[in-house]
Amino acid sequence: MAQKPYVVDKMISAKAIAARIEELAREIERAFAGTDKLVVVGLLRGSFVFIADLVRELNLPVEVDFLETSSYGSGMESSREVRILKDIRGEIEGRDVLVVEDIVDTGHTLNHVLHLLESRHPKRLETIALLDKPSRREVDVKATWTGFEIPDEFVVGYGIDFAQNNRNLGHIGKVRFTEE
Ligand code: IMP
Ligand code: MG
Repeated sequence: MAQKPYVVDKMISAKAIAARIEELAREIERAFAGTDKLVVVGLLRGSFVFIADLVRELNLPVEVDFLETSSYGSGMESSREVRILKDIRGEIEGRDVLVVEDIVDTGHTLNHVLHLLESRHPKRLETIALLDKPSRREVDVKATWTGFEIPDEFVVGYGIDFAQNNRNLGHIGKVRFTEE
């Protein structure tokens, strides 16, 4: 199926993202002060740029792990049914864990992942999402920390894709179709 033509309008600049990550890192450092090691779990693939910048800003001992859930498929609609495609490699029982998500949209993904990780009895489990679209929520879940709340727009860039495109954009932009 051919993709309808679209352009990407800038929404959040790379500079604004970097500044917000600095603020968030200080809050996370305070929350996990004294930890022996923080297990930072990135949800693939959308969080790969965010987690890379976030861990480099964190003055804490960290370990990095990844978990992949079934995605949006190739379009813009959430599948709602969340499946684990790749589990984390490490044990998290009794450990400090931070889940890193790109966007909380309907909330199904984060909700599913939190229940799964909670069942493994971490000492502490917190979450950070770069973006939050509260108006789209279908299940009652909220990340501990959020970078930016955004309206109901389909966004790309900074790791986030539209049908696997635009992940390499340095800023966050919204998709605007140029013809009907
Ligand atoms: P949720 O399960 O509906 O909360 O969706 C979460 C996942 O959907 C996110 O991790 C993203 O990968 C994807 N997603 C949600 N909104 C967007 C968007 O605007 N652009 C690209 N991907 C999105
Ligand atoms: Mg995702």
